[in-house]
Amino acid sequence: MQKPEPLAGRRLLVSAGPTREPLDPVRFLSNRSSGKMGFAVAQAAQEAGAVVTLVAGPVWLPTPEGVERIDVETAREMSDAIHARIEQTDIFISAAAVADYRPRRREDVKIKKHGETMRLELVRNPDIVASVASLPGAPFTVGFAAETENVQANARSKLVHKKLDMIAANRVGDGLAFDADDNELSLLWQGGALILPKQDKLALARAMLACIGQRFVEKQTSEGAR
Ligand code: PMT
Repeated sequence: MQKPEPLAGRRLLVSAGPTREPLDPVRFLSNRSSGKMGFAVAQAAQEAGAVVTLVAGPVWLPTPEGVERIDVETAREMSDAIHARIEQTDIFISAAAVADYRPRRREDVKIKKHGETMRLELVRNPDIVASVASLPGAPFTVGFAAETENVQANARSKLVHKKLDMIAANRVGDGLAFDADDNELSLLWQGGALILPKQDKLALARAMLACIGQRFVEKQTSEGAR
């Protein structure tokens, strides 16, 4: 007999891509995320039988077949889109590279140049994945950590501080992570880890979802037993 697919019929919410934080009508702060990793996760989840919603920052990728897509621009729009759907979500996977800060003011007209230097005042954006993980009855919540050094230690610290069920750590650089076709991931959770070696992002997403499915069922079983 075939083993039941743990993600079949589950409602997955995935975030992907960068956010853009506008300075004026023509300029913004952003980052190098292409959306490829999050879109691959959405596609792999849909293939595994999940009902998938993808909240995407501004990227130029086609929507994976059978996936509902919501386009957003800023971190606050992404937060609103995610929180509007979180009660109907079993598993939330936060692959988006959300800007930690935004300009305090968005000017209505194009900023003119004046002196040789210019100061920007930035304010903190909401931490979306941490706010989801701290909700009562939170979904199984998976974050990513993009790190240039001390990859696993920094990711473990985010796992704990953001109260996540799992974190996928990726090293930035050497043609990996941002805007690359390939990636490697260390999946970390309380008391466990799984290293997924370098491969294309769709293969990686499939392997990651197999692990998430297993951990999700284990968590449900242990909560049911209490
Ligand atoms: O899009 P690609 O080009 O394919 O690249 C993939 C990727 C490198 C963007 C992806 O694999 C990845 O690592 N995504 C998370 C990048 C990131 O912002 O990491 P972080 O360490 O800064 O954030 C940690 C976690 O908190 C992430 O799950 C992030 O989505 C979340 N976060 C961060 C800030 C914030 N204000 N709200 C959040 O929810």
